[in-house]
Amino acid sequence: MSRIAYVNGQYVRHADAGIHIEDRGYQFADGVYEVCEVARGNIMDMTRHLDRLDRSMSELKIGWPMARKALVTVIKEVVRRNRVHNGLVYLQVTRGVARRDHVFPSATTTPAIVVTAKRTDPAASAARAAKGIKVITVPENRWERVDIKSIGLLPNVMARQQAKEQGAQEAWFVDPDGTVKEGAATNAWIVTKDGTLVTRPAETGILRGITRTTIFDVAKKLGLTIEERGFSVEEARNAKEAFMTAATTVIMPIVEIDGHVVANGHPGATTLSLREAFFDIAEKTPSC
Ligand code: PDD
Repeated sequence: MSRIAYVNGQYVRHADAGIHIEDRGYQFADGVYEVCEVARGNIMDMTRHLDRLDRSMSELKIGWPMARKALVTVIKEVVRRNRVHNGLVYLQVTRGVARRDHVFPSATTTPAIVVTAKRTDPAASAARAAKGIKVITVPENRWERVDIKSIGLLPNVMARQQAKEQGAQEAWFVDPDGTVKEGAATNAWIVTKDGTLVTRPAETGILRGITRTTIFDVAKKLGLTIEERGFSVEEARNAKEAFMTAATTVIMPIVEIDGHVVANGHPGATTLSLREAFFDIAEKTPSC
């Protein structure tokens, strides 16, 4: 079965899909994106993902490429046509195609949209979660507007590659004062000795992750307290548990930070209980 992508109004074979060489996403990273998890045939937290897409676009003054309701139909259709039961949907909106010029093109330029979907293996993810993953820390070197889910991701790409080269799976960006910001493509969390969940406030400096937001609902259901405050690399290394969240990994235990083992080196019970409860509590939109 060949993969199918949605590109500017058409469903096309993934292998044949293409965009214009003067698409502003290609030339300036002038666009935004979203990644939604598909779990057991459901698109997870789609409302929150589309709300954040709307915010990212409005911050950059990019218009909707199509009506929101129509986009929901396209997302479901791409998932259906690719027969994705467990996996990810990627959607990207750019300012569109125009002769290269830094200033915005004319208001009549139509934003460009691409939607793709791919399968992932829940058993492989569960195996990773059972073991836990390793992170390294790197100095924060991104622009200030990381609250916008922009496709300009070079610092994130470089950080994730560095993590891989050092035998880790994620890199945490750290401020000069030692405060952890977030991962290259995940939000960062710790659990203190008294069982409180700690994550950095999302008003500035990090992306307000959708998984992060839904963890607030999950924690409430499980009777857990969340404190939104900065934490240092030192505090994280000495925490009871550490974990990261994203649509791609959902809740993933962290067992090593810069080579220092966290707690006993095994995923923590609180992290695993959040992972367990997530599916039931998150919003589920059946893909067909
Ligand atoms: N990344 N922080 C950053 C910098 C991210 O890129 C992401 C998501 C998150 C977590 O957000 P959410 O819970 O909404 O997935 C935090 C996506 C998955 C990616 O780039 O693939």
